[in-house]
Amino acid sequence: SFLSQANTLVKADAMLDVNNGKLIKNPLLVIQDGKIAAIENHKKYVVADGDTLIDLSGHTIMPGLMDMHVHLTSDATQHGYRRLTSSLPRVTLTGVKHAEQTLMAGFTTVRNVGAPGFADVALKDAINDGDLVGPRMFVAGRSIGVTGGHCDNNFLPFEYKAKSGGVADGPWEVRAKVRENIKYGATVIKFCATGGVLSKGTKVGVQQYTFDEMSALIEEAHMRGLTVAAHAHGLEGINTAIRAGVDSVEHVSFVDDETIKLAKKMGTYFSMDIYVTEYILGEGEKAGILEESLNKERKVGSIQRENFRKAVKAGVNMVFGSDAGVYPHGDNPKQFSRMVQFGMTPLQAIQAATINSASLLKQNEVLGSLEEGKIADIIAVKGNPLDDISVLESVSFVMKEGRVFKQLN
Ligand code: ARG
Repeated sequence: SFLSQANTLVKADAMLDVNNGKLIKNPLLVIQDGKIAAIENHKKYVVADGDTLIDLSGHTIMPGLMDMHVHLTSDATQHGYRRLTSSLPRVTLTGVKHAEQTLMAGFTTVRNVGAPGFADVALKDAINDGDLVGPRMFVAGRSIGVTGGHCDNNFLPFEYKAKSGGVADGPWEVRAKVRENIKYGATVIKFCATGGVLSKGTKVGVQQYTFDEMSALIEEAHMRGLTVAAHAHGLEGINTAIRAGVDSVEHVSFVDDETIKLAKKMGTYFSMDIYVTEYILGEGEKAGILEESLNKERKVGSIQRENFRKAVKAGVNMVFGSDAGVYPHGDNPKQFSRMVQFGMTPLQAIQAATINSASLLKQNEVLGSLEEGKIADIIAVKGNPLDDISVLESVSFVMKEGRVFKQLN
């Protein structure tokens, strides 16, 4: 037992219990084999010879953060036609840097919802093998979508025959694409249910895929034990994806009250990236985003924020999803203050990035909170995040699965 062997001990001034928003004073966590073996009070705990004590005095510890919508292989300065100039090996290497930046920002788990050529699978494997530093990754491989849709590559004319790896049309083709993604390592399925902002020539509000196609895709993924994320801005696409049984809807920009009610009833998670609009409209032109896309963003951003407020108020399951990759990796936490500005309590914003995300990933037995038996993904911040959510923008300590990746300085 932990009493008889050398342990890693983590002590701090306070620990945030994300389940009920309580701050527990003077915690001491006993870490064994990457898990939290016990939670004690450091005033009463006798440190044994040989134990390694990590002293986080002056700090509050909380569970590692989780971002349900990132693209680690995307670079925020390489939008539009610039993206076409990077090879698959090049974007994979850029993902190496972004994985480290994400972990250092306090995100110990991410869901990578789309990457070309299974670059995300390679990244995840290299991280798990200990070759690279990065978060625990759930990976989608190629995003699945209709010909010419948001998940296709529409930048070049016909004679170039450019087509994204995730293009599939019809119920059996989408099933086959799900199977192929799983074959090459996908652990989650992502598809595009409507047009998007950053794709060329798609209408952001317009549905892509019929109900039958979405049902087939989702049924196939569920049969294989994977959850499904749907990119959807427009109302019909959001509604159809929810009725087809999707696990999470991304963006959710033009949702209405009725569909919010449906999501609540179905237990569907909303992953609403309400920070990224500021980057797109502020920096996007310099970063190569097409005027067409900037125009679409002008119609999406503020409505999405108002609908975020409505969804929070209605009690929909909300997760933290940033779309980092469109904006710089490592800046993920900037979204927390916007989530509070647009209707969440600080605790709700933290729950979105911890226990709610763990539940969406069906990992709530092992991730999402600091409890005995769970994986030791621990971050530390100065001050009380329930009083000032912006402290999450400067995480000072990161432990993933019992290993320290960022030390106090
Ligand atoms: N990847 C998304 C798209 O192209 C980004 C949308 C971001 N805008 C927003 N307001 N959330 O559709």
